[in-house]
Amino acid sequence: MDANYQVIVFPWFAFGHMLPFLEFSKRLAANSIHVHFVSSPKNIQRLPTIPKDLASLINLVQIPLPSVEGLPENAEATIDLPLEQVQYLKKAYDEMQGSFEKLVGQILPDLVVFDFISCWVPETAAKFGIPSAFLSAFSAATLAFIGPPAELRSNSRVKEEDFQVVPEWIPFPSTVAYPSFQAKQICHNINIPDVTGKSSGERLAVTLEGCSFVLVRGCEEFDGEYIHLLHELYQKPVIPVGLLPPRPIDRTSTRTKEANWSDNFTWLDKHSPRSVLFVGFGSEYKLSIDQVHELAYGLELADIPFIWALKKPEGINSSNLLPPGFQDRILDRGLVCLGWAPQLEILDHPAIGGCIFHSGWGSIVESLFYGHNLILLPMMADQGLNARLMVDKGIGLEVERSADGSFTRTAIARSIRLVMFKQEGEPLRVKAGQMRSIFANQALHENYTKRFVQFIGCCKRNEHLLPEKVKD
Ligand SMILES: *[C@@H]1O[C@H](CO)[C@@H](O)[C@H](O)[C@H]1NC(C)=O
Ligand SMILES: *[C@@H]1O[C@H](CO)[C@@H](O)[C@H](O)[C@H]1NC(C)=O
Ligand SMILES: *[C@@H]1O[C@H](CO)[C@@H](O)[C@H](O)[C@H]1NC(C)=O
Ligand SMILES: *[C@@H]1O[C@H](CO)[C@@H](O)[C@H](O)[C@H]1NC(C)=O
Repeated sequence: MDANYQVIVFPWFAFGHMLPFLEFSKRLAANSIHVHFVSSPKNIQRLPTIPKDLASLINLVQIPLPSVEGLPENAEATIDLPLEQVQYLKKAYDEMQGSFEKLVGQILPDLVVFDFISCWVPETAAKFGIPSAFLSAFSAATLAFIGPPAELRSNSRVKEEDFQVVPEWIPFPSTVAYPSFQAKQICHNINIPDVTGKSSGERLAVTLEGCSFVLVRGCEEFDGEYIHLLHELYQKPVIPVGLLPPRPIDRTSTRTKEANWSDNFTWLDKHSPRSVLFVGFGSEYKLSIDQVHELAYGLELADIPFIWALKKPEGINSSNLLPPGFQDRILDRGLVCLGWAPQLEILDHPAIGGCIFHSGWGSIVESLFYGHNLILLPMMADQGLNARLMVDKGIGLEVERSADGSFTRTAIARSIRLVMFKQEGEPLRVKAGQMRSIFANQALHENYTKRFVQFIGCCKRNEHLLPEKVKD
């Protein structure tokens, strides 16, 4: 195999994008590909450490983020910003185009792998005759729902109701569509330009039209039907890169690293296998105080042990974060951990049996890697679509919601009890457990990386996959 490929990898500045792009980079490096992983200085600092054996093949390239009016100093990723201000980060990100072009010119890689926010990458790469690949942090089902570029350009879905129905171009049985409480925001994001002058729909359309091919975090064995559909919708190669599952954790070495966390793990050690519920909503979303309280009462009612990685809502005093007396009533049965939590290490603990979570694509992959039972409580972005996909596949249960997205404590408790131990939930538990044979099958996912590496070679030999060199 050719060991000298150079690939630039450039994710959007959200951890839900940077982490899978980094995981993908590690897999390329493990196949002797030289990766140049590009981000801003503060984001590079915040990335997990790269394993020693791969470090020499992963070059972390820092490009300073241009300052932009409206973007607070030191805000370099979406977690540093409230949702309304993310558009200013996009603006700064767009202004990196010049420095990015210089970098491409210096490295002259075999391929540039990018994200759809930087929809200008195909044009930049084409100046040097270099192919570009859009790597989707979203599932194939999400991309299929969003549709082909022509659809995005036709402005045919302009009402929020349009996002609540399965589109006619999905030819097989599916319920993948947005829940009512997410539809308004999504309709706005897809159609309405922000301060950058572009909408998300336009960025995705430009990306899909411009890229040489599409890489998707999926596999034949799990969501092949959606991957094949994308190939038809896009009329260009769509290559699954596997699910990018985590590598097995070496407990003896990682646990000691987070000194403050060892007591929490000792707490988990005292519980019987698969008895504890993990509660977590990812790095981007902060529950409102009302949601925190309703969820807390629901956990109390469900009457099972849980560990909750809780982010404090903005402007809320820790002393009244949880309902009055909650901590005393749950005593030894529940553990609430404020702030950052080592999610993967928690999911890896044998005491964990299920998760109530936001159904982010990355968290779904991590949970099913361990075959955990899934209780789905989507909040934002692609989460509502992922939740439907899990329900369609008989793997998870979505908590009942009102039209505005609110949920009751009884709905929370009922869903948890059904999925975790009620007789009715047995088929869901069996199916989630079976998913390990796909999600934790390292050889299967390594094969996807190997096939992709072969494809890079193919690409170099196939003129029609290379962009026409564009003059300045
Ligand atoms: C975590 O542990 C470090 C020392 O290991 C200590 O300085 C810090 O205050 C601890 N933080 C918390 C939140 O307990
Ligand atoms: C759990 O970890 C947090 C650090 O996030 C620490 O502050 C807390 O004391 C730990 N709780 C227990 C019961 O060990
Ligand atoms: C938080 O609550 C404590 C105790 O109730 C109080 O002393 C403190 O002033 C409060 N802080 C804020 C920012 O409200
Ligand atoms: C991976 O590929 C090898 C070589 O083609 C094949 O023998 C093996 O069965 C594949 N493994 C999986 C899990 O697909």
